[in-house]
Amino acid sequence: MSSILIAYYSRSGTTRQVARQLADKLGADLYAIQDARPRRGLFGYLQSALEAMRGSLPDIKPCTTPLSQYDMVVLGTPVWMGHLASPMRRFLHDKARYIRQAAFFCTMGGEGADTVFGEMEKLLCQDARATLALRQDEVMRNACQAQIAGFAADIAHAPRRPAFDPMPLDEDGTRPWARA
Ligand SMILES: Cc1cc2nc3c(=O)[nH]c(=O)nc-3n(C[C@H](O)[C@H](O)[C@H](O)COP(=O)(O)O)c2cc1C
Repeated sequence: MSSILIAYYSRSGTTRQVARQLADKLGADLYAIQDARPRRGLFGYLQSALEAMRGSLPDIKPCTTPLSQYDMVVLGTPVWMGHLASPMRRFLHDKARYIRQAAFFCTMGGEGADTVFGEMEKLLCQDARATLALRQDEVMRNACQAQIAGFAADIAHAPRRPAFDPMPLDEDGTRPWARA
């Protein structure tokens, strides 16, 4: 098990591509946040837009990855309607308390990264150790190698918070008193 986890959501593959490149560079584990129900086509697009604007919390597949055992969780999301993608909102809503420290990246058509990073910090109740915003067309042209390498270096060199934890963890990495 690596000390770094990349947890990402991707509807159409762009964020996944960046997540895989980062995982390669950092030797990190990968976790894909998955919709409980498909989100394809025009209906999926409209549903995604509506959920992002409303701040909805859609169902996602259960995550059993022991998040609290990672020093750093790198969170990747697309920008939807200037906001956080709703499946990532759901993930952070459910799991923020198990994330010791985090870095963020997003992919987008053109803008919205600052709002998205602000929303993620609010849900996590902590600042990001590093951030990266990439345009989809640049990711697709493979024109982001230098930015991804710089972000990976920031993550690798970020000072780690001490792992002091006075409460024992369950085997799955959750705290008995913090279960939903
Ligand atoms: C419902 C929806 C809303 C979007 N809204 C924005 C937006 O407000 N700003 C932007 O720059 N890109 C927006 N995009 C484009 C995505 O952020 C971009 O295509 C992203 O790279 C997709 O990531 P993915 O392929 O990992 O799903 C939107 C895409 C969708 C599906």
